[in-house]
Amino acid sequence: MPNAADHYTVIGNPIAHSRSPWLHAKFAAQTQQAMRYDRSLLEIGNFASGLAQLRANGLQGCNVTVPFKIDAFALAQWHSPAASLAQACNTLWWDAGVLKADNTDGVGLVRDITHNAGFKLQGKRILVIGAGGAGAGILGPLIDAGCAHILLTNRTPIKATEVANRHATLALACGCELSACGLDDLNGLGQQAFDVVINASAASLGGQHIHLSDALLAPHSLAIDLMYGQSSRVFLDWAAERCSQTRDGLGMLVEQAAQSFAIWRGSLPHTDNVLRELRAIVDAPTP
Ligand code: ATR
Repeated sequence: MPNAADHYTVIGNPIAHSRSPWLHAKFAAQTQQAMRYDRSLLEIGNFASGLAQLRANGLQGCNVTVPFKIDAFALAQWHSPAASLAQACNTLWWDAGVLKADNTDGVGLVRDITHNAGFKLQGKRILVIGAGGAGAGILGPLIDAGCAHILLTNRTPIKATEVANRHATLALACGCELSACGLDDLNGLGQQAFDVVINASAASLGGQHIHLSDALLAPHSLAIDLMYGQSSRVFLDWAAERCSQTRDGLGMLVEQAAQSFAIWRGSLPHTDNVLRELRAIVDAPTP
């Protein structure tokens, strides 16, 4: 039987906005598990000591968000294949005293695209914009999902090349043609349109528009921003004028949380109603 003292948290800076406690309370109620899930604000540079303090107070596992995903990866003693490829993690837990790390962001995104949006990824051409932690975290699961071609583009080209090189073996094994280029080179490549264009860059956070060619999207394409709420609008409003399907990162948020919950608690919660409920909350007009 689960113990009422089982304690989890989400660590970030800032963290007050996080929906994770709400999500995990829903999952715990649905699966009848007794657990506590908080928010923990740690000072930048203090991840290791902050985590040690939380552990001393009985923490069993946590989600990790901006800007600590790379610190968490560095601290972990065991990494899942997804975390190793991303070199960043969003899920930590202790197993027989060993600190383990996984990255559920990419599996969450793929589940949102295929299950929630009903969009098949097999054989598709994908453009991923951004080779930071977010872009690196989704690449492996997109390759695993059977995409035929993935182009990773980044403002700083060398980062896209490095992340793509790290995924080359997996791409070869899965029959996925994986390539990388700088954002400035993208529009000059004379690309045919992509089936899916994913904005995994942090440009949206600052409300910045990335200059992209209209030719990247066709009417049938799906455009996704990994952010949700106002931050996702700059890219998605641009995309909505060029393609018929747009999607923000709310579904991915719910799905990555469900995958973390399954790692810790051994059962994968249903997400459909939870996503519907969260969508209504997020989209409700602010008074
Ligand atoms: P995250 O974990 O959210 O991915 P990150 O690791 O800091 O955060 O990466 C931010 C990503 O957004 C990077 O790919 C960054 O490009 P650079 O590698 O060139 O810095 C990208 N990014 C941020 N602001 C951008 C902008 N205005 N235009 C294009 N890309 C931007």
